[in-house]
Amino acid sequence: MAKKSLRRGLFITFEGTEGCGKSTQSRLLYDCLKRSYDCVYTREPGGTAAGDYIRHILLHSKKIKISDMAEVFLFEAARAQIVREVIRPSLKAGRIIICDRFSDATIAYQGYGGKIPLKLIESLNAAATEGLKPDLTIILDIDINTGLRRAKKKGIDRMEAKDIAYHRRVRAGYLKLAKSEPKRIKIIKVESDLYKTQENIRALILRNYLTTKLCHFPI
Ligand code: TMP
Repeated sequence: MAKKSLRRGLFITFEGTEGCGKSTQSRLLYDCLKRSYDCVYTREPGGTAAGDYIRHILLHSKKIKISDMAEVFLFEAARAQIVREVIRPSLKAGRIIICDRFSDATIAYQGYGGKIPLKLIESLNAAATEGLKPDLTIILDIDINTGLRRAKKKGIDRMEAKDIAYHRRVRAGYLKLAKSEPKRIKIIKVESDLYKTQENIRALILRNYLTTKLCHFPI
């Protein structure tokens, strides 16, 4: 059966603090949507050859020094590339794009977490995204301790190694962002059953963005 394209594409991003399960949830959604729609799955930092190099520097090069401001510019550089190379062309072709993190992450992490002025980050975000904002952003909300415990099971990267106060500020930042843009940003509580969380995500998307009946589990 031919897959549907939308007239102007749909851009969905997933956000949340460490160990919230956003990669699993965004993938489950992608696996479901791609049965009926022309879909692209990607992530930040990454999603392009340049972005993958930058991701490696940011997350896995533990021995090199990266100042707070250099960190911001590296995230923004990866973003500028993915917007030009992947996101804009996919939207133009009417695809659904599911992106694991996007510009809200820099506000929450480097802004609220790292205390870089929000105004500066907002203007860098605007430049890197060429003014593009997601149609829908899903923040998966989880208690910080539970999330960090889950994340640590997979090994710790440079961002996860920041102290707990940093991660608490990141969560508070995400919650503030959701309050300031309630139409675009929706909070979904992380349930202990991952399929329940996924059901809530699909229900939200069906209510607001798509009309096609979505697949049920098992997918
Ligand atoms: P993740 O793909 O496992 O979520 O890892 C990405 C890490 O990078 C995560 O710790 C959040 C962090 N990050 C920022 O600090 N700022 C950003 O702008 C982005 C996109 C990610």
